[in-house]
Amino acid sequence: MRIILLGGPGSGKGTQLRRLSEALQLPSIAVGDVLRDAIAQQTRLGTSAQPYVEKGELVPDNVMIQFMRLRLLQEDVNQGWMMEGYPRTAFQAEELDFVLSDFGQYLTTAVYLEVSEEVMRERSKARFSSGDATRSRADDTPDILQRRIQHFRDRTIPILEYYGARGKLLKINAEHPPDTITQEILQKLKS
Ligand code: AP5
Repeated sequence: MRIILLGGPGSGKGTQLRRLSEALQLPSIAVGDVLRDAIAQQTRLGTSAQPYVEKGELVPDNVMIQFMRLRLLQEDVNQGWMMEGYPRTAFQAEELDFVLSDFGQYLTTAVYLEVSEEVMRERSKARFSSGDATRSRADDTPDILQRRIQHFRDRTIPILEYYGARGKLLKINAEHPPDTITQEILQKLKS
């Protein structure tokens, strides 16, 4: 299985990735976490991504595409994977298909975690003001969050059509409790 999780900020991509990858025994790739680790360690990827992530802008496609091509070549993911945070643009979606077809592979399903923008703001606000240093994120301030929501609306929403047209899109109402969402996705992936 090769599954991507799509959704806006706070839609629960990271939360569902952890639960589903464990349930399905799939290696997971959380692209936002990878970028934050790279920034903390000031690797080449991190220094390229930092100015964009800090402002809630999208890291340029060429940087992301180059990184993903290398990441998907690694041995731990050659039998399948689950990923969140990539693709986020039409160009990234097309490139992912090119990379997979180069490897003789294909994407199984694109799961879209649908929540309203109000819920995106509420959840991110709760995380930002939680006081928990391990969870709170510098890019959850209201103005940066608004920028992230805008990029989701302008750049990521259009790729839903790309996956819909290919019969790969699984739309989930992600305003329910995490457990309900996990169970619904698992049930639909199996059917
Ligand atoms: P990234 O870290 O991926 O941020 P994001 O997409 O904005 O998403 P979040 O991490 O805020 O939310 P999530 O959907 O994972 O929800 P979570 O499970 O955490 O990316 C950060 C930045 O990196 C981007 O802005 C960009 O700069 C860059 N970047 C990343 N990928 C890129 C790409 N492909 N191209 C270019 N740039 C890229 O949950 C959020 C909160 O809600 C948590 O507190 C959680 O406990 C709670 N919660 C989750 N589910 C539920 C539920 N069902 N009910 C109630 N609360 C819930």
